[in-house]
Amino acid sequence: MKLSTLSTAVAIGLSSIAQGASVVHEKRDQVPPEWTKLGRAVPDTAIELRIGLKQSNLEHAEDLANQISHPKSEKYGKFLSAQQVVDLFAAPQEVISETMQWLRQGGINGNRIKPTAGRNWLKFNTTVAVAEKLLDTTYYTYRNEEESVEVVACESYSVPEDIQPNIDLIMPTIQFETRGLAASSRGLSRRDTFSPKFRVLDSVPHPSSLANCSETTTPACLRAIYGLPDSDEAVEGNSYGIVEFAPQSFNQDDLNVFYAKYASNVPNNTGPIIDGIDGGYFSNDSSVDTRGESNLDLCYAIGLVHPQPVTLFQVGDNDPVQPATNNNFLDAIDGAYCTYEGGDDHDWDAIYPHDGELSGEYLGQPDCGKYDATKVISISYGSNENDRPISYRTRECNEYMKLALMGVTVLFSSGDTGVSGISGRCLLPNGAWTPPGADYGRFNPMWPGTCPWITSVGGSALPENGSVTDKQVAAYNFGSGGGFSNIFALPSYQTNAVAEYYSSHDPGYNSSIYNNTQQVRGFPDLAVSSQSFITGLAGDFMAFSGTSAASPLFGAMITLINGERIKSGKGSVGFLNPVLYSHPEVFDDITEGANHGCGTDGFPAVEGWDPITGLGTPNFAKLRDLLLSLP
Ligand SMILES: *[C@@H]1O[C@H](CO)[C@@H](O)[C@H](O)[C@H]1NC(C)=O
Ligand SMILES: *[C@@H]1O[C@H](CO)[C@@H](O)[C@H](O)[C@H]1NC(C)=O
Ligand SMILES: *[C@@H]1O[C@H](CO)[C@@H](O)[C@H](O)[C@H]1NC(C)=O
Ligand SMILES: *[C@@H]1O[C@H](CO)[C@@H](O)[C@H](O)[C@H]1NC(C)=O
Ligand SMILES: *[C@@H]1O[C@H](CO)[C@@H](O)[C@H](O)[C@H]1NC(C)=O
Ligand SMILES: *[C@@H]1O[C@H](CO)[C@@H](O)[C@H](O)[C@H]1NC(C)=O
Ligand SMILES: *[C@@H]1O[C@H](CO)[C@@H](O)[C@H](O)[C@H]1NC(C)=O
Repeated sequence: MKLSTLSTAVAIGLSSIAQGASVVHEKRDQVPPEWTKLGRAVPDTAIELRIGLKQSNLEHAEDLANQISHPKSEKYGKFLSAQQVVDLFAAPQEVISETMQWLRQGGINGNRIKPTAGRNWLKFNTTVAVAEKLLDTTYYTYRNEEESVEVVACESYSVPEDIQPNIDLIMPTIQFETRGLAASSRGLSRRDTFSPKFRVLDSVPHPSSLANCSETTTPACLRAIYGLPDSDEAVEGNSYGIVEFAPQSFNQDDLNVFYAKYASNVPNNTGPIIDGIDGGYFSNDSSVDTRGESNLDLCYAIGLVHPQPVTLFQVGDNDPVQPATNNNFLDAIDGAYCTYEGGDDHDWDAIYPHDGELSGEYLGQPDCGKYDATKVISISYGSNENDRPISYRTRECNEYMKLALMGVTVLFSSGDTGVSGISGRCLLPNGAWTPPGADYGRFNPMWPGTCPWITSVGGSALPENGSVTDKQVAAYNFGSGGGFSNIFALPSYQTNAVAEYYSSHDPGYNSSIYNNTQQVRGFPDLAVSSQSFITGLAGDFMAFSGTSAASPLFGAMITLINGERIKSGKGSVGFLNPVLYSHPEVFDDITEGANHGCGTDGFPAVEGWDPITGLGTPNFAKLRDLLLSLP
């Protein structure tokens, strides 16, 4: 940020072209091969020009988020409001005025320039001719034959030297929408998803029996394993959110059948509070693929925390081509995110309104800031870290940091395919997937476990034929997702845990297998029960295994603890990792099992933190005492 230049500039009144030489700001080396240049863009073509302003507070915000979440810091628990977060990231007023000054000199009427709600973008309607002069560039029209689309774009553009430090990017300029094409040719899907494994049962367990908890898991088993309390009254201000992406949809009758047998504390017809986002579509398909995940998440969220309220964020419409993503959800709980760093990605995120070709498509404007975040959010969907560009991953991860600043606990399942990615696919040296069924390649870490600002929940289990008092092992019905990021640096809270891991248990793989520099984020952070959760489905019961079961369970634990904290006049716990890594003693370490994949044994569970069960499984009583003792 050039504050000094700025005050000088303001002092001399900036009445003439005072911003120095024009310098190239962004440039493309070549036009992507899918695009053919048709010719100069017609000068009076209307375009909406968007100037993205630099957000220099990012490092500062990271530091602040760490302090707010660290139990030894004076700032612990002093969360920011949504408006304070917007202000923290917004460009300073000086930067806005300096940039406006430049635009006015370029002939743009100041009244037409609109800063976005987050004050990180200046937008205005203009023409190609005006933009060409302003950005010292030439716009062309390009055509993509395969997609039958044309865009107006340029191959490089310039801004005045003095203005450059204020500017992140300007759109539309050199952005060609190529990433979706590259990805679809690699067989990637836009959808962020993985599905829990399910099993049809010969006989269902008795609701209060603890005899068979290693075989099938019920709420009674979980209460016994973890010593979870019954919760007797709803605490005002407490909240727990479960996120589901259409076409996954819960069914109330299935929940009722589940309560009647396994959660008699929950009255018939108890549903979640429904916050529908971007259509909030409910399919009524009763197949396990459209109902299983949602029913599983809600049976255990509601079953374990009732009468604490559970909110369902039901995201997306009935458009299978442009399914909703995490970004579409994040827009709905943070209006400023809708435009943050260019807004949603046309290649990857659903862009609303949809065209209405199918019934159930959403024809409205995208939901921006429509709902408040709940104190705890659990999401049992994921993808491979490498499925999206680094810029996309960074933008999303920064948003989880903002939620950390606001005191929201964000939990994600760590994945169900061990060290390999979705469908067991691993990575070739060029980043593409290995062929289906291939058992080699680089580890393919799951998203968003590798983002340092969420808590990644892995899967554990009672040992085969074990009892509820036995020490748990890593999940063995599936591989608990874990490993190390290829993008995100080692967060400070994890430094000691990862150093200890390597000093005693280096798994010995070289850098062609995964990023073994010891300088990157490892996941998961912890593990909880995850196998054969009995769930209501289509009038009957099925057993689901996966970290999809684990994340809602851990979220229920934190929601119960938040309730107690709020009752005693404290706030919710917020981003947990700095607290958890400072107190490994509140976990029962897991030292058995491994997350095989990519032709290897993956990472074995070992003493201390490991990239399969994290810090271990929480000892609920100790975790509760710890979190209640914090201010
Ligand atoms: C530009 O024009 C379009 C179409 O009329 C309108 O939807 C949009 O809001 C305008 N943008 C600005 C920044 O005024
Ligand atoms: C334990 O569960 C298995 C699988 O559901 C079942 O076959 C077996 O009969 C159960 N055993 C007991 C003692 O309930
Ligand atoms: C629960 O409510 C539904 C619909 O209102 C009803 O059909 C069902 O019989 C009820 N179940 C129980 C166990 O009362
Ligand atoms: C599914 O059922 C619900 C409740 O009966 C209804 O409101 C909704 O419109 C149905 N969805 C579809 C796609 O038919
Ligand atoms: C668990 O019990 C079953 C049935 O008794 C037996 O076949 C199996 O070998 C046992 N597994 C272990 C690890 O003890
Ligand atoms: C591993 O991660 C580090 C730290 O982010 C990075 O500097 C390095 O380039 C990565 N190595 C490989 C081989 O990707
Ligand atoms: C890394 O290990 C693999 C087998 O695990 C081996 O094939 C490869 O040559 C090793 N690469 C380097 C650079 O040592």
